[in-house]
Amino acid sequence: MSFSFFARAVPAVQRSTVLTRTVQSCVRFQSTASTTPKRVPRVLPSFSLEGKVCLVTGAARGLGNEFCRAFIQSGCTELAIVDLKESEAQAAAAELVSNACVNSDMTPEDFNVIGVGCDVSSELSVQRAFEQVMDTYGRLDSVVASAGIVENYSAFDYPFDRIKRLYDINVHGAFFTAREAARNMIPQGGGSIVLVASMSASIINIPQPQTPYNASKAAVRHMASSLGVEWAKKGVRVNTLSPGYMLTKLTKTILAHDQDLKKTWESLTPMGKMGEPEDLAGAIVFLASDASKFMTGAEVRVDGGYCVI
Ligand SMILES: NC(=O)c1ccc[n+]([C@@H]2O[C@H](COP(=O)([O-])OP(=O)(O)OC[C@H]3O[C@@H](n4cnc5c(N)ncnc54)[C@H](O)[C@@H]3O)[C@@H](O)[C@H]2O)c1
Repeated sequence: MSFSFFARAVPAVQRSTVLTRTVQSCVRFQSTASTTPKRVPRVLPSFSLEGKVCLVTGAARGLGNEFCRAFIQSGCTELAIVDLKESEAQAAAAELVSNACVNSDMTPEDFNVIGVGCDVSSELSVQRAFEQVMDTYGRLDSVVASAGIVENYSAFDYPFDRIKRLYDINVHGAFFTAREAARNMIPQGGGSIVLVASMSASIINIPQPQTPYNASKAAVRHMASSLGVEWAKKGVRVNTLSPGYMLTKLTKTILAHDQDLKKTWESLTPMGKMGEPEDLAGAIVFLASDASKFMTGAEVRVDGGYCVI
């Protein structure tokens, strides 16, 4: 019996009960057989991504990369990492596979993870990326649109070309990604699409001014609900994951210019800290997998309580 397995998989409050039951079942087993049964971690099977083909945009780094890690930990072996630079997407793919093989009985041959270059703000580029992915795997089960940018300008100072670029990536990029995903999922009977919005879709971040970003994320959240209804009877679900302040390159870039900002953000968050990217792992696997199969047009907010005060 492996005690380290229980320490990892079971919350402390339940551990003694589980251990008691386990000891009882081992005793029962030993009385009728000569070998100890091999224990496998017990999880709700619908959370598994085994056999599912997944695609994540903006996945060379940051939250998108963390989502890929979570998918692989949940059994996914066929995964497309989509990002602006093909070389970075491919490097991220190689790194994910090699990490997945550490302390595991899996080998690189067990995985088919590809890196695809794509600018999500270009419809043609998104269409080509999906063609490449469909050519490789022949189907697509779960797609996450995580590519996005943020900039802090006051409304009067924000150059229009930069506002337009932000909407092209955050809003149109999410739309192109969702539309190509659904085009491919509908003929195969359905799939799950997750658009990464933000708590900024619901609240106004302070003190940094970022009106176009906030508006872009509100648009993404409502887009997911609209598309969810449009495709509901076709088996394609569309939901939104809305993170609070998470420590990624995106936020570190902002914090690099303002050391006090992190303290302000933390003081405004009931849990008193910024989230780590892996804090989103459970929510993204839930939304991408069959565990959420009666859910569409919904938002899952993971923000340390920010939005409720
Ligand atoms: N980090 C946070 O605190 C936070 C909070 C709420 C929401 N979000 C959202 O989560 C998503 C990911 O953010 P992150 O923190 O991981 O950012 P990040 O900057 O760390 O990573 C973003 C990734 O998107 C890619 N990307 C940017 N423009 C692209 C384009 N045109 N085409 C393809 N790929 C492109 C980048 O190359 C990068 O790999 C964004 O949509 C962001 O708005 C982040």
